[in-house]
This record gives sequence, structure tokens and C-alpha cells, in this order.
Amino acid sequence: MQAARGKNHLVSARYINERGDFGLETEHRFFYEDSRKMSAVKSDSIDLVITSPPYPMIEMWDEQFSELNSDVNLALQNSDYSRAFETMHRELDKVWGELFRVMKKGALACINIGDAARTINKRFQLFANHARIQKIFIALGFDVLPLILWRKQTNAPNKFMGSGMLPAGAYVTLEHEYILLFRKDAKRVFFTKEEKLNRRQSAYFWEERNAWFSDLWDFKGTRQGTNNCETRSRSGAFPFVLPFRLINMYSVYGDTVLDPFSGTGTTALAAMTAGRNSINYELDGGFSAPFNDSIFIEVHGLKHYNQERIRKHLEFVKRYQSEKGCLKYENSYFGFPVMTRQEEDLKFFYAKSVFEVEKNNYKLFYFEDRDVQAFEPEGLIQDQLQFTTGTDPAD
Ligand SMILES: C[S@@+](CC[C@H](N)C(=O)[O-])C[C@H]1O[C@@H](n2cnc3c(N)ncnc32)[C@H](O)[C@@H]1O
Repeated sequence: MQAARGKNHLVSARYINERGDFGLETEHRFFYEDSRKMSAVKSDSIDLVITSPPYPMIEMWDEQFSELNSDVNLALQNSDYSRAFETMHRELDKVWGELFRVMKKGALACINIGDAARTINKRFQLFANHARIQKIFIALGFDVLPLILWRKQTNAPNKFMGSGMLPAGAYVTLEHEYILLFRKDAKRVFFTKEEKLNRRQSAYFWEERNAWFSDLWDFKGTRQGTNNCETRSRSGAFPFVLPFRLINMYSVYGDTVLDPFSGTGTTALAAMTAGRNSINYELDGGFSAPFNDSIFIEVHGLKHYNQERIRKHLEFVKRYQSEKGCLKYENSYFGFPVMTRQEEDLKFFYAKSVFEVEKNNYKLFYFEDRDVQAFEPEGLIQDQLQFTTGTDPAD
């Protein structure tokens, strides 16, 4: 199965070696440029977008928005906050317009955004970034899909805003962000035998489906990936688990994921882990060196995210079997029980090595099938293989 990616120069290759094993290579390109114009990205070439823009009206991004458009600074100085809000969004709108151009029909865009609360001229106000972004995506022609509320509960003492225990000037906490989901055109269709097999191999576990496809995600906004701490704290990075889930939910092996506001490169790391290609745009070139410094070390740890998925699955199987009985189906790749037929062909690719083929362009190689099957996350796979598959408890 081969997919050449034309102007994007991304080549994801799936190959079979002389032992009959499947292998995979992916490519990850970083452009330290302005994503309001992504001229290196071909129209209709992107399978999935995952991103988190700078948040309008959150103070840490005022300066950057002012650099993108000096009217922002003017509006802020004149305390004309509704104009500042709108002017900031108009800069983001240019990126959203580019997304519509570069995305394939059926591709999804996942936009992580939080609203901003700010006191202006003694008036406390919410700036509903999520609503403004949803409005422009509709105007651009995207279909709106049910969104995810990302709850980031915190113990910070300043999370309660306003007049404390005295009515009526206190405000509810702002402990959530949004993951807005949009689709360009109709649902994606998998036509050929190879495409259908690749889709089945890219499946996720039944119990993952139950958690991931919930409209409420509840994990902390702290760092869960492993790359450079200092750059992450000044970037507003999202946790690794966020793009990793979305990539597994909405794309298949060898797809190309775009992040037009890539910051520290969390989306790229998740794409590497999940066997997808990525294209990343970031205005701040200061993120290039830290990513380059860490990726050659991090690549060896990426497989642990998939091994952790297996470990959790085997725990689920153990629990299910002790409480409810045997699972009916068996995964053909690992040999462990699974809940549904759709998980029978599910497999994983483990990242093995990375090369910088040209500046800010990385190629990843993955272990071949037999090597992946030989990995044993904490010996659990061997234990689990002793489980017998039996009849579905629902039969
Ligand atoms: C919220 S951060 C993204 C963090 C990222 N998700 C991560 O995990 O590190 C937004 C990023 O967008 C970048 N940015 C802002 N405007 C941009 C533009 N027009 N083109 C490219 N990058 C931009 C900022 O420099 C910042 O790093």
C-alpha cells in the first residue's frame, strides 16, 4: 500500500519485507512560517487537522496578535475590547480559510479553544471564542459536528472569580475548554480492498471507543508528553493525549495530519506515535531547536503510548472476563480477546528510529510486525494469551 503526497512531498509507505511482515515509514514537516498562507500545502491533501490557536483576549497572546495586526494593539489601548476581539479573530479566520482549501473532502478539523474572561473598565466579561470560531467555520462551508467539552479541573485558589461569598458579583469557574469538530463535505468513504484493510487495522478498542467518543473529556491541562518543559510552558501546549486520541479517532495509518499552530510539536509527536504523517506550521522559530534536540531521544519512548493502550486493554479483558464471561472475538495480530469483530484486525506500529532528512523534515521508521508482536508490555501479553476466547455473554 503506497500513497504519494504530491506537492506536500509526504510519502507514507507501507511495505512488506521478505519475511512477509508489514512495515511503515512516515514523514513530518515543520514550516516555521505564518499559517495564514500555507503555500507549501497542496489543496485537498490533508486528512485531518488538529490544532489550538492563540486564544483571542487571553493576555498572553495580546502581543502576538498585535504583531499580526497593529489594529489589535490600537483597539486594546483604546479599551475597545469588542473591536480587539473581532480583529484578533479576523487574523485566525485567514487560517481557517486555508484549512478549507487544503483539507480533503470528508476530512475533519478539531479545534481546541478556550473562552476568555477579562475585566475591562471594571466590567467583567466573557469573550466566547468558541462561538466566534464556530460561526466562521459555518460561513466557510464546514459542517458542524457534536463537540467535546474538555474539563480541566484545577485546585488553584484563584479559580473562583469575583466577590467571593458575597452576592451577587461572583462568577462560576472557567475550568473547561472546547474541542470543536468540523467536517469538510460528506463523510469519508473507503473504496479499495487496501483502504478497507488499512481502516480495520487502524481501529481502536471497544472500551476506548466508549471513553473517547464521550462529549466530556476530563484530564488536566498539564504536560503529558515528554518533550522540552521550558518551551511547553511558554507555548500553551495541550497534553499529548489530546491529539493522540483525536488522531486515532479520525484518521487511519499513513494519513496526513496538519497543525497550523504547532507550538512545541505535540500534534507531530502524536502523529509519529500513531503512524500518521504530519505537516506543522509555527510562527515562532524558537520552537525548532528544542523539538530537534528532543525528538531523537523521544522516538524510543513513543511505542510506550501504544503499549499502554494494550496494557489497559488486557486489564479490561481480565476484568470483563471475571465479571461477565468470555469475549467472543480474537485479535488476529496479537492473539488476545477483543469485544467486537471490528477489533479483529487492529494492529499497532511502534516507532523505531528517526532521521532528519532535510532541515525540519523528519522521517520515521517503525518496527516490523514480528518485532511489534514480540514486545511484551510488562509480561501482560503472555499472561493474556492464556485466556481462551469463548461465546459472547450476550449470546
Ligand atoms: C496555543 S499555541 C499551540 C500549542 C501547541 N498545540 C502545543 O502543543 O505546543 C499557539 C501557537 O500558534 C503560534 N501562532 C500564532 N499565530 C500563528 C500564525 N499566524 N502562523 C503560525 N503559527 C502561529 C504561536 O506562536 C503559538 O506557538
